[in-house]
Amino acid sequence: MKFALSLLVGAAAAQCGKRSPSYLTWTADSFIEHGVEKNFHYTQATLYLGYEAAYELTGDEKYAEWYRNQIDDAVVLEDGTIKDWDYEFYSLDDYRIGNNFLWWYERTGEEKYRKAADIIREQINRHPRNQAGGFWHRRPVYPNQMWLDGIFMADTFYAKWTKMFDNDNTTAWDDILKQFVLIDSHTRNHTTGLLAHGYDESKTAVWADPVTVNRDSGSAPLVWDRAVGWYFIALLEAIQLFPESHEGHSILVGFYKDLAAALKKAQHKSGGWWLIMSEPYPGMEGNYIESSASAMFTYGWLKGIKLGLISKGEYYKAAKKGYKLLTNRFVRADDECLLNWEGTVEVGSLCCNGTYEYYISIPLQTNDYKGVGPFMLASYEWETY
Ligand SMILES: *[C@@H]1O[C@H](CO)[C@@H](O)[C@H](O)[C@H]1NC(C)=O
Ligand SMILES: *[C@@H]1O[C@H](CO)[C@@H](O)[C@H](O)[C@H]1NC(C)=O
Ligand SMILES: *[C@@H]1O[C@H](CO)[C@@H](O)[C@H](O)[C@H]1NC(C)=O
Repeated sequence: MKFALSLLVGAAAAQCGKRSPSYLTWTADSFIEHGVEKNFHYTQATLYLGYEAAYELTGDEKYAEWYRNQIDDAVVLEDGTIKDWDYEFYSLDDYRIGNNFLWWYERTGEEKYRKAADIIREQINRHPRNQAGGFWHRRPVYPNQMWLDGIFMADTFYAKWTKMFDNDNTTAWDDILKQFVLIDSHTRNHTTGLLAHGYDESKTAVWADPVTVNRDSGSAPLVWDRAVGWYFIALLEAIQLFPESHEGHSILVGFYKDLAAALKKAQHKSGGWWLIMSEPYPGMEGNYIESSASAMFTYGWLKGIKLGLISKGEYYKAAKKGYKLLTNRFVRADDECLLNWEGTVEVGSLCCNGTYEYYISIPLQTNDYKGVGPFMLASYEWETY
C-alpha cells in the first residue's frame, strides 16, 4: 500500500512537506486542533466514526482520549443520562450518537455508556410510525415521511443494539429490515438504481408526487447525493450486523450491490458525484461535484471490496479515482498545515419544496463533519487496503 500512497500525494499534502501522508491521521490531528463542539448531534457522531478509525489504524491512545473527552460529562453524564436529552422529541437524527455510545461500551464495559444507549433504544419503542410501520423522520414536523438519511441515523443503531443485547429477537430484526425495504420500495428508480431522497406515505407534503414518480409512492422527485451516501453506509453497517440466518442479510446485500453498480454509472469523469444525481440535472448550471457524498461512495466501495461484497476487478479503479479526487480537490492545507475539508453542502432537507432550485440554493461549508467523517473512513479503507 505504501506504493499507492506515494502516488497520491495531493497538492495540499506536498505543500506541507508530507510525502506519503496518512490522510486519516492528518485529518484526526487537524480537527483536534480546530476544536469540535461537544454535543450529541449526528454531525459530531459522524466525525467520531473517523476517530474510531484513526484509533483502529494507529492504536494511538491520543485519539481515544480526545474522543472520550468529547463524550464524557459533556454528552454522557456519570449517571448514564444524556446531557440535554429530550425524552419526548422524536427525531431519528438524534439516535445516531447511540452507535458511538455502544463503541465506548464495547471498549470499556462501563455501564454509563450502556445506559445512555438504552435511553435511545427505549425512545425507538415510542417513536411514531406510518401505517406500514416505517419510522417518521421526525415528530411533529415530518409526519409519515421516511428519508434515506433516517436509515443511517436510527436503524443502524437499532441493529447494533439488537446484535449486542437482543440478538435472538426476530421481531426486532424483522422490524429493522422493514425500514430498509420500505424506503427501497418507495424511492428506488429501477432504471437508474438510484434512490430519491424520501417519501411521504400520506402524499401530502408539497414535494410528494401523488401519481407519476415511482408508481404512486409519494416519493420526493430528486436524488440528493448525501441522502444516498447515508443510505449506502447504513447498508454496509447493517449487513455486518444482521444474522446471516435472517433473510434480511441477503436482501440488504442485494440492495448494496445494486446501489454500488448504480453509483458506478453515475460517477462523473472527475471521480466524484453530482449534488443532484437524477436526470436531467447532472451537468446543469448550478449543480456541482459535492464532497461529502463523493467521500461516502468512495468509502462504500472500498469497504464493500474488503468485505467481499463487490469485486476488486469491477470497482477498484473507480474507487481509486474517487479517492484521488478527495485528496486533490477537497483537501486544503492552511498556513499552519492543518487539513481543511472543502466542498460539503451544509444541508439538504425535505423541509421545503424539494426542487432543484432548493437544493442548489444551499451553501457549501468548510470543515463540515458530514464530509470530514466519511473522508476519514475512506482514508482508513485506502490506507489499509
Ligand atoms: C423484541 O423487539 C421488539 C421490537 O423492537 C420489541 O418491541 C420487544 O420488546 C423485544 N422483545 C424483547 C423480549 O426484548
Ligand atoms: C427513472 O429514471 C429514468 C432515467 O433518468 C427516468 O427517465 C424515469 O422517469 C425515472 N422514473 C421515475 C419513476 O422517476
Ligand atoms: C422552491 O424553493 C426555492 C428556494 O428554496 C425557490 O428558489 C424556488 O423558486 C421554489 N420553487 C417553487 C416551485 O416554489
